[in-house]
Amino acid sequence: MGAQLGVNIDHVATVRQARYARNASSINIEPDPVEAALAAERGGAVGITAHLRQDRRHVVDRDIFRLKEAIATKLNLEMGNSPEIVAIALKVLPSDVCLVPESREEVTTEGGLDCVTHRAALEPTLKAMRDAGIRVSLFIDPEPAQIAAAVSLGAPVVELHTGAYAETSGSAREAELGRLIAAAHLAAEAGIQVNAGHGLNYINVQPILQLPKLVELNIGHSIVSRALFVGFDQATREMVALLS
Ligand code: PXP
Repeated sequence: MGAQLGVNIDHVATVRQARYARNASSINIEPDPVEAALAAERGGAVGITAHLRQDRRHVVDRDIFRLKEAIATKLNLEMGNSPEIVAIALKVLPSDVCLVPESREEVTTEGGLDCVTHRAALEPTLKAMRDAGIRVSLFIDPEPAQIAAAVSLGAPVVELHTGAYAETSGSAREAELGRLIAAAHLAAEAGIQVNAGHGLNYINVQPILQLPKLVELNIGHSIVSRALFVGFDQATREMVALLS
């Protein structure tokens, strides 16, 4: 058991945008998500995740290009399946792309990308990414139908949505953990890499390590929050220790 850590730096950009969204040409713009990414790497992250949203509410295009240039590990670009962002991904050429829902109609009841309903729209994007040498992960709910859709789309990786697990407690949480374990089994049997993420923190993360064939967890908010008090390297180091 154990998993590698990908650190999501979106909320470093959230703090920056709170002050500078309308004045991006200011000098000394802070905090810098690239600086956070480098600190996360020093703390043991195996990858850096950033979500370029259509509304650019936190990460902006320049961040993605700068991250790609600066980091020594892999860049995982989270994105919705929109033509504009797909075109940017094909310019940046990150090692990984994680397709996530951004508009209501792309979401299943629990919040992952609905790969059953949106199969036809996802197919050309997966092909374009594959042709460009980008590995695609689908952020899905832990449901057999979603795993089956990911298999039929030829996705090499799925990221199982742990939000419902994180938001519940007691027997409901146990049930969510069971769904995650079952989904991980199905994905692993089909030869798909299993990642997971969303809502994980220093307290709730360890039971997730029971997921069979789990490779990577992507964690953002709790690490950025802890980094305020202990620094980004140390906040990452502490999470890496919990995962090992
Ligand atoms: N994985 C995916 C696909 C996400 O969209 C997010 C949130 O941006 C995360 C992981 C990280 O979630 P959190 O910030 O709750 O750790």
